[in-house]
This record gives sequence, structure tokens and C-alpha cells, in this order.
Amino acid sequence: MCGIIGYAGPRKTSNVLLEGLRRLEYRGYDSAGIAVGGGANPSGQLRIVKSVGKISALKAAIPPDVDGVWGIGHTRWATHGGVTQTNAHPHTDNSGKIAVVHNGIIENHVALKTMLQKKGCVFKTETDSEVIPHLIAQYYKGDLLEAVKAAVQNLEGTYGIACIHADEPGRIVGARNGSPLIVGVGAGEIFLASDITAMVAYTDKVVYLNDGELVDLTPDSYSILDRDEQKVERPMNQITWELGSIEKGDFPCYMEKEIFEQPESIARALSGRIDMENATAKLGGLNLDRSRLLNVGRVKIIAAGTSWHAGLVGSYLLEQVARIPAQAELASEIRYKNPVVEKDSLWFTVSQSGETADSLFAMREVQRKGATVLGICNVVGSTIARESDGGIYVHSGPEIAVASTKAFTSQLAAFYLFTLLSARMRHMSREEGQRFAASLQSVPDLVAQTLKTRDLVQRIAKKYCRAANFLFLGRGILYPIALEGALKLKEISYIHAEGCSAGEMKHGPIALISPEVPSVFLVSDDYLREKTISNIREIKARGGPVIAVGVYGDSETENLVDAFIPVPKMDPRFYPFAMIVPLQLFAYFCALELGRDVDQPRNLAKSVTVE
Ligand code: G6P
Repeated sequence: MCGIIGYAGPRKTSNVLLEGLRRLEYRGYDSAGIAVGGGANPSGQLRIVKSVGKISALKAAIPPDVDGVWGIGHTRWATHGGVTQTNAHPHTDNSGKIAVVHNGIIENHVALKTMLQKKGCVFKTETDSEVIPHLIAQYYKGDLLEAVKAAVQNLEGTYGIACIHADEPGRIVGARNGSPLIVGVGAGEIFLASDITAMVAYTDKVVYLNDGELVDLTPDSYSILDRDEQKVERPMNQITWELGSIEKGDFPCYMEKEIFEQPESIARALSGRIDMENATAKLGGLNLDRSRLLNVGRVKIIAAGTSWHAGLVGSYLLEQVARIPAQAELASEIRYKNPVVEKDSLWFTVSQSGETADSLFAMREVQRKGATVLGICNVVGSTIARESDGGIYVHSGPEIAVASTKAFTSQLAAFYLFTLLSARMRHMSREEGQRFAASLQSVPDLVAQTLKTRDLVQRIAKKYCRAANFLFLGRGILYPIALEGALKLKEISYIHAEGCSAGEMKHGPIALISPEVPSVFLVSDDYLREKTISNIREIKARGGPVIAVGVYGDSETENLVDAFIPVPKMDPRFYPFAMIVPLQLFAYFCALELGRDVDQPRNLAKSVTVE
């Protein structure tokens, strides 16, 4: 969580920091601050401005004379210490000359604070992060890099740090351990940030830092030191994101824009990867030879949140279509479960951001046990993408809204491709493979058709959004879609929603049914249809209102329920792509109707880089 940015160069520093923070705001948005030095500021002094609330509040709080030639900024998602102006970053040492922004958690901060207080340091905040500037001050003898190098030796936990010293104009020192940090290189200017989005407006040349590394920056140079304090020569990467892809365009919110981008984003995930002639998939990044792939006896999937739901769909699909036993595990659980890594198992970590701490740490744990782990990531160059043994980039483009939508359907696309490849290596015939591949190819069109339900879904959302509780129900491969529909609604509308397997309903959730509790059913036209319809009847018999997402032309279901949202008929294995769309729209319109902040819901952050 939290977003950090540093800048040194000829531009108006406060503007660059504010603009970068605005783009990082999805990482946390309870308070923010900047520290700048040089320029018209008195020499040897830093100017610090902090404010509670979003970046717009910080912008309003910055006096016009606060500028400089270099500085750092932070947008916070509180972990240690309440949401107050004092607890907002940057934090300083007692001289006020050293300023630090931090993303992560310093686990031994209590012991460090006690030690530093004994040495006379006076603490102003309740944060764990404040120990960092005080520690740096203990080691500072005129060289910020040397002081940071010594200070980080004492830190336990996770950190992405940017530090400046008032007496060293233009210099920024960064350190990374478990929280992302990326250098952006411009002509005569330098950036340091948690995410590329913060600097994509200014440069397309970036350098990724690894855990344990330090970086020393000036407007004209970057120098990286590894864990052993050896200099690392790391070439720059050219990034291909365009600024337009991180703007809202004509949409009122990023979430709506991202929902509507799905036909293109799914098409990008599939692009060049379907081999129709041979009825298989081409996945160049797996780094696995054919015999290793053929010998996969079990697939295990690690993920969190929406990515876990994509993993669950993947596990159903792999088992049903490729006949490989597959299981999706919550990253935060598997990490501490002492997982068994079987010799013939293949692991996946699914993560939009590629930075989720739970997923990253779980992945490292199974790698230590010998697992081969493939990443299914959206953000190119992210930590999970770099540390996995191979993988599939989903190419959704930047996803800015906190609630994930287009990344989810692209993650599904990655699993469908991998399933096609695996099934064709096993029992699947060419004809069967061609049918599966053709269905996959048609998904972008089918999703585009489903998006036409927008106005219908808006009307239904208007009618039901005042309910305090919802159930989302589905069976088989649509069960994870029910979970995802409930999560979307919770995340952005704050309405309590529970996703459950329609078959499991009678074992508990049915007790919740009343005329005030609507149920949202996902009704396929496969072998589970009749059973799902029976479950709808059970709800109706108890006076519960039912909204159904079903197949176009299914008049039996339509006549049975209170509201019906049709999706186009397709190969039933592909309904997850289509049926999630009305649920995304439903959550979106409920949240809009209730006046919620759709893109930045309370208490959440997009990239959760703490455990
Ligand atoms: C956070 C976000 C969710 C996301 C989850 C996993 O909780 O709010 O939207 O699904 O992290 O994120 P990842 O980047 O690993 O997919």
C-alpha cells in the first residue's frame, strides 16, 4: 500500500510530485504529503506540506511559494497510526533536514524506537515509518547514501523508501525490500516511484529495483547497489504505456471505462496466442519444455481477491477440460500452511499488480520448497512477474479503478489458453480443440454484446440498491463468478453481499432469505441449469426477490424471476466471461446510485503491499 514518488530535475517539483501522487492515489488515499528543497527555498532547509484526505486536499494546502529542484511525496493507506496530518508522510529526523517516505511495514519499529529515544530522538508520530529518518540521522556524516546503507541494516519488515537530505540538493536515495520501487530516467531529470504510472507522463525509460537494493539518484545519474553493496549495471527498460491509457477519457469513472474496455482487453490477452490450424495455444513465456508440461500432474494457484476468483475459475476449467487436478488457494492462507509441493505440480501466481504481498510471499515460500511457479500478471516488470519462473502477461493495460474488472477477464483468458494447450497435449482431439479455440476467439464479441445490457442493469440497480444484504449464487464454473459478483458489490457500494454455491444455499444461507434480501442467480444452460432453477424456486417460495443473469431466450427463468439480464448463448464453459459483466455493471450502478466513490472506495487500496 501507499504510493511514493521522488523527483529531481528542472520541472516545477511540487507539480511533478502532485501529478505522480494523483496517479498513485489508487494505492492509498487517506492522507498525503510532499517535501521539497532547493530553488527559492532557503538553502539547507526542506519545505514539508501534509494533509489529510485525497491528493486534491494536499494540492489545495500547498502554498504557491513551495517549490524546489527536488523532492519526495507520499500517498498513505494507514497501517500504524491513525489518519492524521502528523502521521502523514514525509517524516523527518529531529533536525528536519532528513525527510523520508516509506511504503511497507517496519516490524521491529518498537525496539528501534526505544533504542532511538534513549539516544535522544523525539518522535512526533504514531507511525512505524518515523524510525527510518531518525535511524538515518544516527549514521549521517555528510553522505546520504552511506547513512541509508547503514540504517537499512537495522530494519526488519518491508520497505520501499525514498529519502532526501536538505544539504544534498538534487540527490535522492532509495531502498527496496518487499515493496516495489522503480527508477524513471529522463533527459536531465530523474524519478523514483512505486509504480510506472507515476512517471509515464514524463518518461518511458525505467529501471526496476530488486529486493535488498539501494539506489543513488541525481538528475543525471542512477547508481544501484545490491545486498552486498556491489554496484549493479542494470540497463533501462523501454515501456510502452501511453498516457491516454491511464486517463478516463469520456467516462465519468475509471471503473466504467475499464468495464467497457473488456472486449479489447480480452482480445489483447488472446492476441497471437490461438493457433487455429493446430487447435492449440501458443504461450511463449512459460519457459517449460513439452515433457515438463506433459508431466504436470496437479496445478496449484496462489492469489488474492479478484485474482483468486479468476484462479478458481481456472481450477474448474483445468480439471473439467484438461483433466488436471487443480486447486486455487488464498495466498494469505497458503503461505503459513507449510504447503506440500508435489514433484509433478505446477504452480501459478495470479496478480493484476504483480506486487500483492500475500501472493508474492506465498510464491516465494513454495519456490523455496522447489515449486515451479508461473505468473499470470498484468503489470509488466512487476515483482511477481520477475520472480516467477515464467508466465503469461495478460496485457489488460493499466487498471486504475480499485475494483478489478478488465484484469479479471484477461486473467480468465490466460487460464483458458493454458487449458487449451494442456488439454490438447492430453486427450483433446483436434476437432474438439478447434471448437474450444473458436469459442475462445469469439469471447470479445460476446462480451461486447453483453455490455449492451448496461441500461437494463442500471434500472435494476436503481430498484434494488437500497437493500442492505444480497446473496449471489451460482453452480460449477459460475460459483466463482457469484463470489466475484458479491465482492464487486461489497467493495464499491458497501452493501453486504455473500457469494455462495447455489447447491450449498440450503445448508445455511437460505436462512437469510426474506422479501428484503435479494438473490442474484447465475443460470447457465448446461447440465446444472435445472438444479439452479430448483434453487431459484426455493428462494421464491420463501418470498425472496430474485435477479437472474441467464441465457438469452431462457423464458422459463425469465418468467420465474423478478428481473432478468440476458447474455448471449455460447459454449457453457465460456459463460464466466459474459456473466461477470452484468455483475460488474450492477455493482457499479448500485455504488453510483448510493453516491459512493466508485474508483476509490473507502478502506481499500488497489495494490496491497503489506500482509
Ligand atoms: C486488493 C484489491 C483487489 C485485488 C487484490 C489482489 O485487495 O483491492 O481488487 O483483487 O488486491 O490484487 P492483485 O494485484 O494481486 O491482483
